[in-house]
Amino acid sequence: MDAPVLRVGVIGAGNVGGALVELLSDPSRHVALVDAATATLELVGVAVRDASRARPEVPTHLITTDAASLAARDDLDILVEVIGGIEPARTYIESALSRGTSVVTANKALMAEAGTQLAALAHEHGADLFYEAAVGGAIPILRALRSSLAGERIERVMGIVNGTTNFILSKMTSEASDYAPALAEAQALGYAEADPSADVEGFDAAAKVQIISSLAFGTRLAGESITREGITGVRAVDVEFARRAGFVIKLLGVAERVGETGISRRVHPAMVPLEHPLAAVHGAMNAVFVEGAKSGPLMWLGPGAGGYPTATAVLGDVLDAARNRVSGRHDVPFSIDETLHAIDTNDIASVFYLSLDVLDQPGVLAAVAGVFGDHGVSIQSMEQSGVADEARLSFVTHVARTGDVFATLNDLASLASVDSIGACIRVIDGGDR
Ligand code: NDP
Ligand code: HSE
Repeated sequence: MDAPVLRVGVIGAGNVGGALVELLSDPSRHVALVDAATATLELVGVAVRDASRARPEVPTHLITTDAASLAARDDLDILVEVIGGIEPARTYIESALSRGTSVVTANKALMAEAGTQLAALAHEHGADLFYEAAVGGAIPILRALRSSLAGERIERVMGIVNGTTNFILSKMTSEASDYAPALAEAQALGYAEADPSADVEGFDAAAKVQIISSLAFGTRLAGESITREGITGVRAVDVEFARRAGFVIKLLGVAERVGETGISRRVHPAMVPLEHPLAAVHGAMNAVFVEGAKSGPLMWLGPGAGGYPTATAVLGDVLDAARNRVSGRHDVPFSIDETLHAIDTNDIASVFYLSLDVLDQPGVLAAVAGVFGDHGVSIQSMEQSGVADEARLSFVTHVARTGDVFATLNDLASLASVDSIGACIRVIDGGDR
């Protein structure tokens, strides 16, 4: 009997889609289609915006600009969405799922916005919705959380989950590079989102934290906003201070249990001690550090962005969906824990590093220290360096409530002797739990 042919359509042929089409078209990889004996994959269409653009990796006869018709084909088994953004991606995915076509996507923004609803739609129509590539590029972290750690009580997940910002911070750390050229290089290498503010302002990492949290704890994927601070306020002086103090600055996505039913989810720059495994994650590499109650600490590391690494995760999902299709099954959506509630980040305690530029005059330090005292924020250490008639003050606090530190900064900003507030960066595992 002939092996059944599963028809695959791909929407998007940019960094990820182009690499995926190349992998799908490589005959040597067909051997790697574990179920080649029971099914073969046929690429039946690749939808793009601009059909005139040269795409050597895509056979010309497969290119279409009619993504809606490709998604709505009744004979399609698997639709891959790699265009990004909420619309029209969501409409195409809903169109495919409601026909029973399985969907593979790398779209973290959409999954964070509507993942729970889309997973329910997939289930209703007997289809799969897979999105491993949405978090950590090539790292198989979603499967690990969903399957291997399904029986573990996860306490905290901390991740470097945005390649662009890790690339920029790494360049600022190791090459004293300026921010702008490092960002331009990340864009040229295909790491950055179409709008790079999604990377540097932490939106991309926030979406990934929501996806991780849904699988680690059972929180809903329904467009909640979580606390988010990007890297645009991190300056060379902060990177240098961190280095001297034995830390490296990373943009961290954190999802953690607080008590029995609280979950805190946030994205912010953090000073990571050099001896922590996350400190050794450089360039566009991503890493996810999971603390399980019984497993102890675990870490996954790998390329978190870029066409080929991301395409390998997409291809893995396509093969999983293909296997399910052949065996007439589909995965059930992850379960939601209705007892959980979100913890206000203001109530999370941490050690903080703060820097400010002030006038170098008598009484200024006392006034500044007084503001810390007013909010009950205790100073652990202070460093002053002179810049003309100004002084830069760098403080490390004792463990303090985030809301109290922000209130301190707010009041400091209104002191006449304070010229500018610089960075406000949490120090991880400096007693912040
Ligand atoms: P690109 O911008 O490189 O490519 C987007 C592709 O989608 C292009 O081929 C574009 O067509 C096509 N496209 C855009 N809008 C439409 C539309 N309305 N109809 C048909 N085609 C359309 O994006 P990436 O490949 O970098 O990213 C794709 C997705 O993968 C995003 O969700 C992103 O977040 C995610 N992702 C990306 C990673 C990366 O490292 N780049 C890593 C992990 C996930 P045209 O070429 O004609 O302009
Ligand atoms: N823009 C994203 C990043 C792509 O830099 O990590 C991978 O999701």
